[in-house]
Amino acid sequence: MSKIIHLSYISTGHFITDNTLQDIENTSSAFNSKVGVTGFLLFNGANFLQTLQGSEKTLTDLLARIKKDPRHYGVVVVQDHPIEAMTFPNWGMRVKRIARGGVGDATFAELRSMADPELKTMMDNFMAIGG
Ligand SMILES: Cc1cc2nc3c(=O)[nH]c(=O)nc-3n(C[C@H](O)[C@H](O)[C@H](O)COP(=O)(O)O)c2cc1C
Repeated sequence: MSKIIHLSYISTGHFITDNTLQDIENTSSAFNSKVGVTGFLLFNGANFLQTLQGSEKTLTDLLARIKKDPRHYGVVVVQDHPIEAMTFPNWGMRVKRIARGGVGDATFAELRSMADPELKTMMDNFMAIGG
């Protein structure tokens, strides 16, 4: 049994529209559920913050594919470590566009409640710099 990895990265979006986000969500929820990967993707109007959890091999392959995607650039991995158990429900991928100051957003609050303390801080900062 391969190790379970928790991985987060930040990147910069390239001409992102609501259609782009919908397209990424459709691809991701289908693929990720199939291979047992879960997590979420936030877009703040300028940058992405994505967290992925799944087996090491699957995530290595998926991240290589994501890095090549022209819809964003400058992927910087900010968390990459083994975990004992998955902490997000098996929903594949939740994609959420967040607006600056939208701290009361229910989906954001739900995702945040499942994050470790370090990730919570990154999510809060990410939200504060939103475009
Ligand atoms: C910010 C961002 C996050 C993405 N996250 C995922 C993901 O979690 N799972 C996934 O299958 N594809 C994700 N994608 C899409 C992949 O980059 C890629 O388009 C998709 O896997 C299809 O790959 P292919 O065209 O090489 O077959 C993401 C794309 C972007 C821009």
